[in-house]
Amino acid sequence: MNVVSTLRDARSALLPWREAGETVALVPTMGALHQGHLALIVAAQKLAKHTVASLFVNPIQFAPHEDFDKYPRQLDRDKQMLSEAGCSLLYAPSPEEIYPSGFATSIDPGPMATILEGVFRPGFFVGVATVVIKFLMQLMPDIALFGEKDYQQLLIIRHIVRDLNVPVHIVGVPTVRDPDGLALSSRNSYLLPDDRHRACALPRTLTESVQMIQQGKNIENVLSVGRNKLISAGFSVDYLTLADAMTLKTSSSARIARSTIGGGASWKYALNR
Ligand code: PAF
Repeated sequence: MNVVSTLRDARSALLPWREAGETVALVPTMGALHQGHLALIVAAQKLAKHTVASLFVNPIQFAPHEDFDKYPRQLDRDKQMLSEAGCSLLYAPSPEEIYPSGFATSIDPGPMATILEGVFRPGFFVGVATVVIKFLMQLMPDIALFGEKDYQQLLIIRHIVRDLNVPVHIVGVPTVRDPDGLALSSRNSYLLPDDRHRACALPRTLTESVQMIQQGKNIENVLSVGRNKLISAGFSVDYLTLADAMTLKTSSSARIARSTIGGGASWKYALNR
């Protein structure tokens, strides 16, 4: 696997593939890789001739009180994992390469960035959208893959790409979970053994809530019971919401219930965490 840290070297590595008319898939990451990232790499390899991973802990998607400084960084291990997974190129730029002095542009994804996760992390999706567009414009992949774990992020990226006519196909890849149901996440490394055990209440509560709604139970009651279960497990709950899988808008219980009972494919849980 070729490892580069400048845009110039990344473009040089991509040029022969482009000239040969070969397809390129991009997997953007912030490193601290796990099997969830590798599932993106595996999916990318099925869709394109060459797989490129980017590794950049994007400062502008962290609020000042968030964990930018302590976000896990393990470049050597990440390189080895990507290489073993068959990744062709790793682009691991410096902050200056991405945000040179005087950088002043940002991408505002609009209303979808201000609901759900956006309420609790203002500015987060602007930071994500800006860096993702930056990587797409720098590397011009044919395909870019993102995990469904960050479902709101995935939808927002689809929307920006559509709105700005960015010539890339966005692919969502299903969440990879530990056997106890917890979604793999780089931040799980922060959890102490006791917290790790209690964290399983999240996927369990989401699954139970889905089942109850599919059985026709009252949605507000189900969500209220779910919130209480999470609080009892030690969570402080930001939100537990049923939302339209395409727009993320919450809607009237009746419509959701009809759609769910009718097996409408467009209703899904927004599994943001
Ligand atoms: O999901 C992530 O890891 C990040 O938000 C992303 C898409 C790599 C942008 O920094």
